[in-house]
Amino acid sequence: MGYRITAKQDLSPIDYFVEVEAPHITRAWKPGQFVVFILHERGERVPMSVYKAENGKIGMFIRKLGKTSLQLYYEFNVGDELYSIVGPLGKPIKVEHYGNVVFASDAVCGQAENYATLRAMKEAGNYTISIQSFENAQNVYPEEFLAKPVADEHYITTEDGSVGRKGHYLDVVKELIEKDRVDIIFAGGKLGSLAKLAELTRPYGIPTITTVRQIMVDGTGMCGSCRILYDGQIKFACRDGPMFDAHKVDWEDVLRRSSRFVEQEKLAKERYLEELRAKGVI
Ligand SMILES: Cc1cc2nc3c(=O)[nH]c(=O)nc-3n(C[C@H](O)[C@H](O)[C@H](O)COP(=O)(O)OP(=O)(O)OC[C@H]3O[C@@H](n4cnc5c(N)ncnc54)[C@H](O)[C@@H]3O)c2cc1C
Ligand code: FES
Repeated sequence: MGYRITAKQDLSPIDYFVEVEAPHITRAWKPGQFVVFILHERGERVPMSVYKAENGKIGMFIRKLGKTSLQLYYEFNVGDELYSIVGPLGKPIKVEHYGNVVFASDAVCGQAENYATLRAMKEAGNYTISIQSFENAQNVYPEEFLAKPVADEHYITTEDGSVGRKGHYLDVVKELIEKDRVDIIFAGGKLGSLAKLAELTRPYGIPTITTVRQIMVDGTGMCGSCRILYDGQIKFACRDGPMFDAHKVDWEDVLRRSSRFVEQEKLAKERYLEELRAKGVI
């Protein structure tokens, strides 16, 4: 059985939204968990965070990054079917009453997780604070896709200050910490920022739970591709995460391993863009 696309729209010039029928996932999915989809019979496995999972459909935010994300954008439309979606995978986060819960994000996967996590945290009676960082005004998502409805307090930052506050989520987090307003912080997005966040919160002992994205293949703990060093032990981001206590993650190792296929990815992207140009699609 295929998985029908029920909605698709641009979020910005670089990110887009896709909604797909997958009732087997919506029945079991919890915040923190992800899915893996395959576009076509010969396609690669692509891990994705979930923005919403309800009414038998899952919503995802996707960045036009390389071959597969571009192919889904240019060649699949509403009514078309994906070959496969597996999930939910990974461990859910612990949803309980913490007090002031912050979620900070600065890239596409984190923006999806920001909404999904804070929605559950708000329902559990927490005071929720969302910080969503974008590069510039153009890249800020339409209002209905921001985490505003699930946040008691909502901040947007842009690098140039053209929308919201000037700077990055790290600046806002620092201010909130100085005012003693953070009981726990969750974050997702760029790995380099997550590593900095871990160092920012460490001296204050603030629990800091972040996504650790690594290259995944099977997504179930069998292949070893997403291995990380955590508290001196080997863990698999897909099976033991993808959200971990950021203070126990060896970020240097994570950053090094995350870029190990860059050359091959670049080549695949260039070849695919050439195909699209030859067909007159772009
Ligand atoms: C748990 C998890 C959640 C994710 N959530 C999202 C999301 O919500 N939105 C989104 O756009 N992306 C998300 N990603 C990353 C996403 O899987 C890649 O962007 C995607 O595979 C890119 O494929 P591509 O062919 O377009 O680009 P490629 O050119 O193949 O890759 C571009 C970059 O994407 C990352 N990537 C590629 N393949 C994988 C893989 N198998 N596993 C992990 N990362 C990979 C690498 O950083 C790579 O440099 C997530 C990854 C993980 C592990
Ligand atoms: S993706 Fe294979 S072990 Fe995690």
